[in-house]
Amino acid sequence: MPYRVVVVGMGKRGVHHATAFAANKRFELAGVATRDQKRLDDVVSKLGGVKGSRDARTLVDEVKPDVFCFCTPPDVRLPLVQMGISSGAKLIAFEKPVAMTSAEGMAIKEALEASGVKAVISHQHRYGDHYKKVQEIIASGAIGDVRTVYGTATGWAAHMLSHLVEYTSWFNNYEPAEWVMGQAAGRGKLSDSHASPDYVAGVVHFRNGVRGVYDCGAGAPDVPEVPYWWRKCRIGAIGTDGFAEVHTGSGWRAVTKNGVESGPGGMDYDHDMAPYVDQMADWLDDDNKPHPLRFSRAYGGLEIVSGLYRSVIEGGQIALPLKNGADELAGLRTKVPDRKVLMTLSESAKEYKD
Ligand SMILES: NC(=O)c1ccc[n+]([C@@H]2O[C@H](COP(=O)([O-])OP(=O)(O)OC[C@H]3O[C@@H](n4cnc5c(N)ncnc54)[C@H](O)[C@@H]3O)[C@@H](O)[C@H]2O)c1
Repeated sequence: MPYRVVVVGMGKRGVHHATAFAANKRFELAGVATRDQKRLDDVVSKLGGVKGSRDARTLVDEVKPDVFCFCTPPDVRLPLVQMGISSGAKLIAFEKPVAMTSAEGMAIKEALEASGVKAVISHQHRYGDHYKKVQEIIASGAIGDVRTVYGTATGWAAHMLSHLVEYTSWFNNYEPAEWVMGQAAGRGKLSDSHASPDYVAGVVHFRNGVRGVYDCGAGAPDVPEVPYWWRKCRIGAIGTDGFAEVHTGSGWRAVTKNGVESGPGGMDYDHDMAPYVDQMADWLDDDNKPHPLRFSRAYGGLEIVSGLYRSVIEGGQIALPLKNGADELAGLRTKVPDRKVLMTLSESAKEYKD
């Protein structure tokens, strides 16, 4: 029997998720919910008459899904995790970032652990062939022992930083982080729906001695290989014998013991969503096949991001794991200097206006 799925929130990512579930025979898209009637009508007709509702609670009570998926703005998380748990679903799938503050992230973690419900977070870029190629090169030992992992993105943190942390953690076999230290500039995007400093940069010490270096937002370096602003991300690892890196919008390159290599690739939602949802069915079928994008990994990433923000707020190094939850966004609104951010790219001025 296919796993019955409900998807809540029919914006860009909700439609991507609903379409991917509908295309996979291991799932039955049993219902979609969104508040906007026109959007609901459009999606129901696009997906061939799936059940639609403007009220998520009514829908899940009726459908009793195995998988509860929601794709809402970043400040809508804990109530929908609670709805997923109370619906009786076995797995909750939701979008990055896990939460906007460590306080909410911890509350979500506690709720999931208390219920035993599985959860996955959509850092699905990792299914891109260029991402997989870079991870394979690193895991093969061709760059020697990994000493540094790094990630840069021109987009701001609530959009991009959790992606950088997730994939660099993958390159470092998800070793836990022991401490972080960071700085931030620019208040404009603290008022955005994806609230963040305009620019945050910092370092992470991982338990195995690997150093993580992150540079996210208006001050991040250009990735000239990639024309599309949102996909100007450089994510890689440096080892004792070389390096390998992926560029989200355009291919990969490496210098290894075997010489200089490079190849094509570009982030593609359709390509990446199919294996992402398929591995949810693997995990539902078999507890011994946990999803690579499981909540515990993304939660480790949230701790790194929250730790960087706390370093901005408190100064100095921040030990991980965090012992208590806090509202880091409130702290950033007080502590980030009230000066316009300095931008690396002139084209970033269209995004970093305030
Ligand atoms: N993984 C990725 O590659 C990727 C790419 C883009 C966006 N995202 C993330 O996906 C999430 C959604 O982004 P989007 O671009 O689809 O946004 P969107 O604005 O297009 O859609 C959001 C949807 O959520 C609904 N919604 C808002 N508040 C709600 C509530 N309280 N209860 C129920 N529904 C509610 C809205 O009506 C809308 O349908 C964000 O967290 C974003 O960061 C991830």
